[in-house]
Amino acid sequence: MRIEVIEPHGLCAGVNAAIACALRLRDVYCLHGLVHNEIVIDELKALGYRFVERIEDVPEGETVLFSAHGVSPQVREIAARRRLHVIDTTCPFVTRVHRAARDFSDRGLPVIILGDSDHAEVKGIAGEIKPRRPRASQRVGVVAQTTMDADEVAARVSELRKTYEVEAMADVCTATKERQDAVKRFCAAPGSRGVLVLGSGTSANTKRLVAVAERCGARAFRAGTLDELERIDFGDVETLGVTSGASTPERFFDEAVKFLRHVPRHLAIIMDGNGRWAMRRGKRRGEGHVAGARTLANVLRWCGARGIRYLTVYAFSTENWKRPKEEVDGLMNLFVKMLRSKALDFVHNKVRFRMIGRRGDLSSRLNAAITRLEESTRNFKREFIVAISYGGRAEIVDAVNAAMRAGEPITEETFRNYLYAPDVPDPDLVIRTSGELRTSNFLLWETAYSEYYFTDALWPDFTEAELDRALADYAKRHRRKGGT
Ligand code: IPE
Ligand code: IPE
Ligand code: MG
Repeated sequence: MRIEVIEPHGLCAGVNAAIACALRLRDVYCLHGLVHNEIVIDELKALGYRFVERIEDVPEGETVLFSAHGVSPQVREIAARRRLHVIDTTCPFVTRVHRAARDFSDRGLPVIILGDSDHAEVKGIAGEIKPRRPRASQRVGVVAQTTMDADEVAARVSELRKTYEVEAMADVCTATKERQDAVKRFCAAPGSRGVLVLGSGTSANTKRLVAVAERCGARAFRAGTLDELERIDFGDVETLGVTSGASTPERFFDEAVKFLRHVPRHLAIIMDGNGRWAMRRGKRRGEGHVAGARTLANVLRWCGARGIRYLTVYAFSTENWKRPKEEVDGLMNLFVKMLRSKALDFVHNKVRFRMIGRRGDLSSRLNAAITRLEESTRNFKREFIVAISYGGRAEIVDAVNAAMRAGEPITEETFRNYLYAPDVPDPDLVIRTSGELRTSNFLLWETAYSEYYFTDALWPDFTEAELDRALADYAKRHRRKGGT
């Protein structure tokens, strides 16, 4: 399936301005959802936003944010009476419709609003007009919700003209129209076409884009989260156009497109061959590990540029303690140095650092460096997970003991909660370097359905081109996961 990004898509200027304004504030009340998108709402909740359904629920004197959908004049009056500090992010296109509805009504015309009667925008507009029942052949004013389907609005206005003398100010907003037109252009091309609209099921303009695609004869799909996207079966669609509603954050769009283009969400690497690399050059094994650490700093950067969300690397196994003391000490010192060095600048690159493995086996100096870095990076979304004194069997045994202490009956799902990083999704792809064809006790539970890629390159020689070969190979595979 070919993936095509449909342009323009996504955040419109009105929503963008509302979100940008909201993100600058803290501890504010918001009337209704700011936008119909859970990702944005969750982000605002984390900033201390309180969402209320009625203006009366905002305590006197507090700050309230009006969303891009706008509010009725009655709500504004109550806000003034309660001495609320109002921050108004009503979209200018919506304000224009309010003005038109008010003008029609002031002139004594009955006003017909085309839209979803339970949508916040329509309720706000309805507050501008005096309810009047139109009589046949009477002059009426017609306005429309800004996120309607433009063709549907045109059809309904022509229909109304058969009964009434219509004065219409029923343009959907430019952003809505441009996004709908882009979907129509995409659907007009030949071949088996599907359209995926990214956005919430409660977003009116998102639903309209789905309807437009269906009307154009394409198969239409909608997903508001990656979980929803994972469950979609695109069947025999050859070219999938991807668009998004006006309240869908671009970062979710990017993540979804990467998922569709088969960029692994979680890449795990068994970095092997440092010793052989050094020996072949007549160097000490320790020098091979130093060269390997340089490769790792590069790989972390390359993975970031490719949108890989989680990178887990195998740095030291529970079996590696068998190595000569000099090599083990050298490696432990290298770990401390790497965690403190600028080469892996986690804070600057906004990468969360985590360690998996048996912490009790490590020196207090190494443990302190790990804990400090884990704490200072814990809010970042991209993750770098390093396995030190890690063994897949050790992890399972540690999990079993923890589960027995908790006394909980175990299922595959609850067992996961006792693993070292339970919230990290299983690796999609595991790369092993140096030509060895085994797992060496790496992520035994988590890799049950991971794809493997083996390369003869020794880890210090691993290049960006080799990474891209692994990713291209992965993208071609059909992950059946036990299905057909
Ligand atoms: C991998 O390289 C790094 C660690 C296991 C710490 P090796 O040290 O295993 O290198 P080879 O396999 O001996 O070449
Ligand atoms: C696996 O490599 C462990 C790490 C990469 C940290 P090893 O070199 O230790 O594995 P074996 O001994 O070849 O299986
Ligand atoms: Mg090895």
